[in-house]
Amino acid sequence: MCGISGYIGKKEGLQIVLGNLRKLEYRGYDSAGVAFFNLGANAEIIKTVGKLDNLERALRGKRSLSATAAIGHTRWATHGAPNQVNAHPHSDCRGEIFLVHNGIIENYQDLKSELIGKKHRFRSQTDTEVLTHLVEEYGFEWALKKIVGAYAIALINKKEPQKLYIARLGSPLVVGVGEKEYYIASDPTALAGLVKKVIYLKDGQRGVLSLGGLEIGPARPKIEKLDIDPEQAQKGHFPHFMLKEIFEGPEVLRSALRGRLSADKGTVKLGGLEGVTDKLKNIKKLEILACGTSYYSGLAGELLFEELTNLPTEVMLASEYRYAKHPIKKGTAALLISQSGETADTLAALRKANHQKNLTLGIVNAVGSSIARETVAGVYNHAGPEIGVASTKAFLSQLGVLALMALYLSPKKTAAHREIMRELAILPEKIKMVLAQSGKIKQLAKKYLKYKNFLYLGRGYNYPTALEGALKIKEIAYVHAEGYAGGEMKHGPIALIDRDFPTVALATQNRVYEKMLSNLEEIKARSGPILAIATVGDKKIARLANDVFYVPKTVEVLEPILNIVPLQLFAYHFGTLCGYDVDKPRNLAKSVTVE
Ligand code: G6P
Repeated sequence: MCGISGYIGKKEGLQIVLGNLRKLEYRGYDSAGVAFFNLGANAEIIKTVGKLDNLERALRGKRSLSATAAIGHTRWATHGAPNQVNAHPHSDCRGEIFLVHNGIIENYQDLKSELIGKKHRFRSQTDTEVLTHLVEEYGFEWALKKIVGAYAIALINKKEPQKLYIARLGSPLVVGVGEKEYYIASDPTALAGLVKKVIYLKDGQRGVLSLGGLEIGPARPKIEKLDIDPEQAQKGHFPHFMLKEIFEGPEVLRSALRGRLSADKGTVKLGGLEGVTDKLKNIKKLEILACGTSYYSGLAGELLFEELTNLPTEVMLASEYRYAKHPIKKGTAALLISQSGETADTLAALRKANHQKNLTLGIVNAVGSSIARETVAGVYNHAGPEIGVASTKAFLSQLGVLALMALYLSPKKTAAHREIMRELAILPEKIKMVLAQSGKIKQLAKKYLKYKNFLYLGRGYNYPTALEGALKIKEIAYVHAEGYAGGEMKHGPIALIDRDFPTVALATQNRVYEKMLSNLEEIKARSGPILAIATVGDKKIARLANDVFYVPKTVEVLEPILNIVPLQLFAYHFGTLCGYDVDKPRNLAKSVTVE
């Protein structure tokens, strides 16, 4: 959600800033802009609505002056419509200060009234513009003291063209440290291939970057290695990141298991949890907190933990948990799941849990992100950057890590546990078998393209999969879809079933298979079209379903990892057949850093 890019150094700053905005496009945006010092040493600010192509067109022929700073921004509208005036950078009354901001200034109305009283002239409807006038009135440091909310800020000033001011509170900002040059970005992915060292700014840190070095405080900045392969952030030969990332499924699962699972020995090692082993032995309850797709992996996690460890587990939407009057018993641990590690609600839930002195654990993909840093212990996904807005590979790896965690926490390893370990190890090959049938799923998507509504039905471990499958097609193809537990069908959705309302049924051969068949009978009796996901070799299902997609057999607790893949592909093909930009679905953002 919103992207910040900045540069100070001797290179062509404007081009670098633009190039990095491209890499941040996936976060979601509706307008974009840059501010820089041109070859005549004048400050320029250019903003356009829509895609970055428009901004590039407006900047054709323009270059920035060497050794001066440049900033850029992609905006995802919150306060004020997505138009040129509201796009960032914003500037002060005199047109000397230029600023880009991610986050929300909660007290902007009060500050705006105060500043209008002091004769400041506002142009936009944004909360951000208040910041530029505050800096004009009080200077950078004092302005920061007056604001309430969340921010990542980059600022340049006509009076000091060789300086780039930065600050962070609640919204991510990373500094790339080069040779006498600095880059800034709201996401380290943008810096891959440009620098090897980064500083993940901590909340409350602010400072100034210049050719002479950096001054960041109050906490001393920590320089860390940037471990992102630039190739991972490229599409390669795939037409879309989403498809590339779905096809990375087998490798993503392998990376999540690497060095952790030893199926032969029947052991699981999770280095990130070793520091809290004793505490983990004493936990009485686990609360999983997450949003979006990560929440659905949490629902599967709940089933896994309760089945494999006997640990009472509850999953809550982070956005609900953060405001809920939720009694916390002693011995409760909170497990935060987040791909980006920056989702505002998940971060707030984590802070609440930390405040309550719960043991907090994380399953996070983005290394160095806020949630990864603020949890007491955790396990990284190692899935690599996920660029497609709709989460796909992260879901698979979250499920893989949840299975590992459940195995790790189970006091003794039974034959069933060992079977799960063996199966986990060979699951990447089974995912490959599903991926090999992407063409078949495309045909199915073509056949079902005429429908405007879908029911996704599943029971047990297939229920979270149904919810996630429905979410995918909503996000990518803008098709209304509802995920439902099979047992609940009679309590509502059955009223909708007719020949125009198809059901995608997760009906693999597990302990609730027969119950699913009964659901399908009921749907068939009402002429509802059925597309079933079933186990290879199933002889009964074809009689009930209009279409069947077969997946290899696996142990029930791991079924979500396999069964979600055809549904991801179905949504992908559906969306592309409709002609949509599946990597950047409308109104959605990759990393939802505001509430
Ligand atoms: C956004 C993304 C989803 C993601 C959710 C939670 O809505 O578009 O794909 O599942 O945020 O994000 P997180 O980074 O916390 O997993």
